[in-house]
Amino acid sequence: MTKKLKQPFCLLRIDDLTVVQIKKIIEAAYAQLKKGKLKKNPKAKGIPVGLIFAEPSTRTRVSFERAAKDLGFDTYLLESQSSSLSKGEDLADTIFNLQSLGVNHFVVRTSSTSELLSLRNQGVGVLNAGDGVGEHPSQALLDLLCLFAWQRGSWKALLTKKLLIVGNLSHSRVANSWQMLSRKLGLKLSFVSPKEWAPQDKKEWSADVSKALASADVVMALRVQKERLGGAGQVDLNDYVSRYQIRAQHLNGRPLMHPGPVNWGVELNEELRAYKNSLILDQVRCGYFLRATLLNELIATNPKRS
Ligand code: CP
Repeated sequence: MTKKLKQPFCLLRIDDLTVVQIKKIIEAAYAQLKKGKLKKNPKAKGIPVGLIFAEPSTRTRVSFERAAKDLGFDTYLLESQSSSLSKGEDLADTIFNLQSLGVNHFVVRTSSTSELLSLRNQGVGVLNAGDGVGEHPSQALLDLLCLFAWQRGSWKALLTKKLLIVGNLSHSRVANSWQMLSRKLGLKLSFVSPKEWAPQDKKEWSADVSKALASADVVMALRVQKERLGGAGQVDLNDYVSRYQIRAQHLNGRPLMHPGPVNWGVELNEELRAYKNSLILDQVRCGYFLRATLLNELIATNPKRS
């Protein structure tokens, strides 16, 4: 009888985590966030981690890279334009080549969901840094950390609050991860968008922005992906701005979130750049601590350490 090998930790989908694991990750990240400083991980010292970014990124890349370096990892950044990805080498080959050089842990952003999911059970640990219109689990988790901090570390208080997500839902990997995350945790969530941008599973969705805003405790806007506008049956940008753009008068002092990058003047009115209850930059700061916790998890549970 062949012995089944234990596979390394992979976070490709929110569903890869149990509720217990999610709470443990958020609480560990929150403890570091409160201290304001990351604790070095002696087990990370000198361990190579590959950061493969085959799509553009600012927040995700820098927060993963900085967290990895501050924990003690050796980082190897591969971006599509400056690696053999630009010559057509696929993601799996890129990973296996780095594995031959002793790299067994990866952070991956790709436009291809199927390529990302094919990395499961391949003997490497992978953290998804966003896959096309699939999922962006570390973003939803850092948003959750930001909300947990807003409620001063109380799950009980947080579970009484309702998050409203507004925007281009059908193209949003953040919305997909949030749908899964809220259902797992029992966190109250509603989605609002024009019907053309409704999510596939419409359980939490409506097109009525006034009604959705009336019952929300926190509002998160998503980027309008201008590159996806203009096709038949699509949404007119001016119409979107007049009906769905978030302005100060809609918020009435409630916290505002956005995963970034923001199209000011489209999903958010310019006046909100200076909004005092904006959590947008807090989300970015939470990303550093949350992603550090995920990197620690990668080597805590992975059988191969180097
Ligand atoms: N929110 C987010 O993923 O931002 P970047 O694309 O800049 O990483």
